[in-house]
Amino acid sequence: STFSSQENGTEPPGPKRLPLLGNLLQVDLKRLDSALFDLSKKYGPVFTVYFGLKKVVVLAGYRTVKQALVNHAEEFGDREVTPIFYDFNKGHGILFSNGDSWKEMRRFALTTLRDFGMGKRISEGKIIEECNYLTEEFEQHEGKAFNNTRAINYASSNIISALMFGKRFEYKDPDLQTMVERDHETIHLTGSVSILIYNIFPWLGPCLKNWRDLMRNVEDGIADAKRIIADLKETLNPEMCRCFVDAFLTRKQSLEESGIKDSHYHDDNLMYSVMNLFAAGTDTTGNSLQWCLLFMAKYPHIQGAKIHPQASLSLQCSHKIRVKVSLYISQISSQFHVLPDQVQEELSRVVGSRQVRVEDRKNLPYTDAVIHESQRLANIVPMAIPHKTSQDITFQGYFIKEGTTVFPLLTSVLYDESEWESPHTFNPSHFLDGEGNFIRRDAFMPFSAGRRACPGESLARMELFLFFTSLLQRFRFTPPPGVTEDELDLTPVVGFTLTPSPHELCAVSRQ
Ligand code: HEM
Repeated sequence: STFSSQENGTEPPGPKRLPLLGNLLQVDLKRLDSALFDLSKKYGPVFTVYFGLKKVVVLAGYRTVKQALVNHAEEFGDREVTPIFYDFNKGHGILFSNGDSWKEMRRFALTTLRDFGMGKRISEGKIIEECNYLTEEFEQHEGKAFNNTRAINYASSNIISALMFGKRFEYKDPDLQTMVERDHETIHLTGSVSILIYNIFPWLGPCLKNWRDLMRNVEDGIADAKRIIADLKETLNPEMCRCFVDAFLTRKQSLEESGIKDSHYHDDNLMYSVMNLFAAGTDTTGNSLQWCLLFMAKYPHIQGAKIHPQASLSLQCSHKIRVKVSLYISQISSQFHVLPDQVQEELSRVVGSRQVRVEDRKNLPYTDAVIHESQRLANIVPMAIPHKTSQDITFQGYFIKEGTTVFPLLTSVLYDESEWESPHTFNPSHFLDGEGNFIRRDAFMPFSAGRRACPGESLARMELFLFFTSLLQRFRFTPPPGVTEDELDLTPVVGFTLTPSPHELCAVSRQ
């Protein structure tokens, strides 16, 4: 295949490879996204690496990733269904499928989620209700240090549950706990080195513990999904659609009644789409919120730990002066352990103690900037999900054959040195203009872009905003007693997504 592509044009450059192993020994598989980011500095924004015999074209930097995923959306818009992805969904569902079935399932998911209020009032109400359960759960720790992973993931899982099944679960419910734990483990194992090896040499599967564990998770997940779907089927009433599953079943029924038997609305697509939306929507959103809180504990001058009398003075100045004043205040006040307010100051001033609503966002530019900056720096899906070219394409002068695996390296977009003033530091000013107004940045691409862009983006953003602000209104997040901010570890646990290392924080009541 190398020869035929060379006939048509130049292949993207890349490091020299060994027979059979390709570049496997030259890249750090444990932190693949960083390793590939480093290679892009040597080989340019479009380059080739070989994982064994498997050829992968890596796209790096905002300009290149955008040009490929947006301007050549068709050519770069197929999903690479790796062996493990095939094991997961057998080519059905939304995440790991292609062609007409994918198109129909994705469109159905987007319209149905929208009908159930994704990005609108209905889901705002659901999220606000869940905010109350989450803050209650945090309150029970009475300011003592605890690991917030579970509670946060239960909360984000319940939002998907409400949309998919029309109900939420108690945090104590073992069904909820098992589902969330299982998805969390699956996402982690999927990014492990041994599964990367499995994708290159699939016959190794049965010898790999991670693969066996994943197959068990898949089986258990299918059993749970089938049970819940069967319950909803029994009480289905086409006149009163309660949730995604109802909408799907109703569509299926009406297609069958009009004599269409071979539509894409079959049981496998229902089951796998539901499982996809859970898996893609729970851990990612929970994980992002965890990063937000960890950054707040790490950077108390951004969280705004205490009301400072001079803070109001700085508000009247322009943003630049305000930053200077803040820095000055923080220099003198750090000697007294009092820091100027930011997020919490803005929340108190704009919202006070009433429930935050989505429409408050436009009046909370600093808070909005902090959430965006958290998502940027956390970079939780560092290589997106592998794509595949749907046809031959010449891109930036290089020939890429149909069916080639493509990694849109989101790390290289979110940390692009030509786009961000300080790519490796937490700096909310990336999203603020000189007057302190919120500004969108094109290179903010944690949800990827183009044909495969995350369909849950508006829901995830609404959840992040409401959960984050509701928590920050009520609590100050601090390291456990005896741990300094400097000692809080920002090194991620690397899986398919990047999660914060296991840690505890105190949620200290602000009242
Ligand atoms: C795909 C990020 C939340 C459902 C993706 C992709 C990314 C992503 C990077 C891959 C895009 C690509 O292949 O180029 C995130 C982040 C989230 C989040 C950072 C939270 C902060 C959600 C939620 C849902 C969801 C809440 C469900 C309601 C999906 C689905 C896909 C996807 C179904 C596959 C799309 C396809 O293949 O066509 N997401 N996501 N995500 N996401 Fe999300």
